[in-house]
Amino acid sequence: MTTTVSAHLGTADLDALYDRVRHVVPPVEWATMKQDVAAIHRLKAERHAVVLAHNYQTPEIFHCVSDIVGDSLALAREAQHVEADVIVLAGVHFMAETAKLLNPDKTVLIPDRASGCSLAESITAADVRALKAAHPGIPVVTYVNTSAAVKAESDVCCTSGNALQIVEAVARERGVDQVIMIPDEFLARNIGAQTDIEMITWPGHCEVHERFTPSDIRQLRDDHPGVVVLAHPECPPEVVAEADGSGSTAQMQQYVEQRRPRTVALITECSMSDNLAAANPDVTLIRPCNLCPHMKRNSLAAIRRSLETLTHEVTLDPATAAAATRSVEAMLAFS
Ligand code: 13P
Ligand code: SF4
Repeated sequence: MTTTVSAHLGTADLDALYDRVRHVVPPVEWATMKQDVAAIHRLKAERHAVVLAHNYQTPEIFHCVSDIVGDSLALAREAQHVEADVIVLAGVHFMAETAKLLNPDKTVLIPDRASGCSLAESITAADVRALKAAHPGIPVVTYVNTSAAVKAESDVCCTSGNALQIVEAVARERGVDQVIMIPDEFLARNIGAQTDIEMITWPGHCEVHERFTPSDIRQLRDDHPGVVVLAHPECPPEVVAEADGSGSTAQMQQYVEQRRPRTVALITECSMSDNLAAANPDVTLIRPCNLCPHMKRNSLAAIRRSLETLTHEVTLDPATAAAATRSVEAMLAFS
C-alpha cells in the first residue's frame, strides 16, 4: 500500500489524512500530530525520501506519512524497488539493516538507533557457528528478525509469511529432513507442526508474543462470543492451538479484509489492530494490548527529526553485508 499526497499540505490535505485515522485517533491527539505530519511530507520531498512502515506502527505513521507499509516480507520485497535517495525505516533496527542490504547505495535511516528486538538480541554470529559445528550439513534458516552478522552465517532467511515454504524448499534442495531454524523457538515449533521436516531450535522469543497465554484466548471467547481469534506464529504453540488461525501480520490483514468477520481478536502487537480498525470501521477489533516498545521508539516526532538531520544512518561492514545479502536474496528467490 502506498500513500500519495502533495509535499506542501494545506488544511484540506491534512483533513483528508485525518479522515484515514479518525476512527482510532481522537481530534485532540490529531491536533498534536498534524504539524509533524505536514513537516514529514515537506521533508520527504526535499530529501527525495520515502518512509517504510511496519504493520505495528501507530496509525498516524502507518496511514498518514508512510509510502510503503506491510509485514516484514513485504517491506523486504518493496525495499528492492524503492526509487528514492533516502529510506526512513519506521520499524525496528533489523528491518533497516535489511533495507540497507537490498539498497547498498541509498541512505537508510532508523529514527531511533535503540529500536532493537528481543529475537535479534537472543543470538550472535558465534552462536550460529557453534550450531553449524554441532549439526554439520544441516541448513540454517534464519528469521529476518536477526542482525546482519547472524544472517551472514545463515543459508537462507525467512519471515513469518514464508517460513513453511522456505523450510520445505531448502530441505528439498539439500536433500535433508532437518533444518536449524533460528532464533524464534515458537515460530520454529509452530512451523514444525505443519511439516515432516525436523526443526533444530534456538531459545529466542518475542517479548510481545511470548506473554500471551491459552487462558487469555479462552477469556476472550467468554467475553466476546463468536469472536474469530487469529494468532501470530511468534506466539507459544499452545496459544496458536487455541486460535482459529495463525499467520503473519499481512496474512491476518488479508483474512480480515477478505472474510470480514464481525468481531476479530488479533493476538499480536496492538497497533496492528488499530491500523485495521482505522481502515475497516465495520469490523469490530478486540484489542488485547501488548505493545512492542522498540517499534514505539520510532514515533512521528522521531521520524521528523530523522529527516531533518539525516540520522541515524545504517552502515554495514562490506564482508558481512555481502554474506547477509546472499541469505536475504536466497529467501526472495525461494518465495
Ligand atoms: P510480520 O509482520 O512479518 O508478521 O512480523 C512480525 C514481527 O514481529 C516483526 O517484528
Ligand atoms: Fe521483535 Fe517482537 Fe518487537 Fe517484532 S514485536 S520487533 S519480534 S520484539
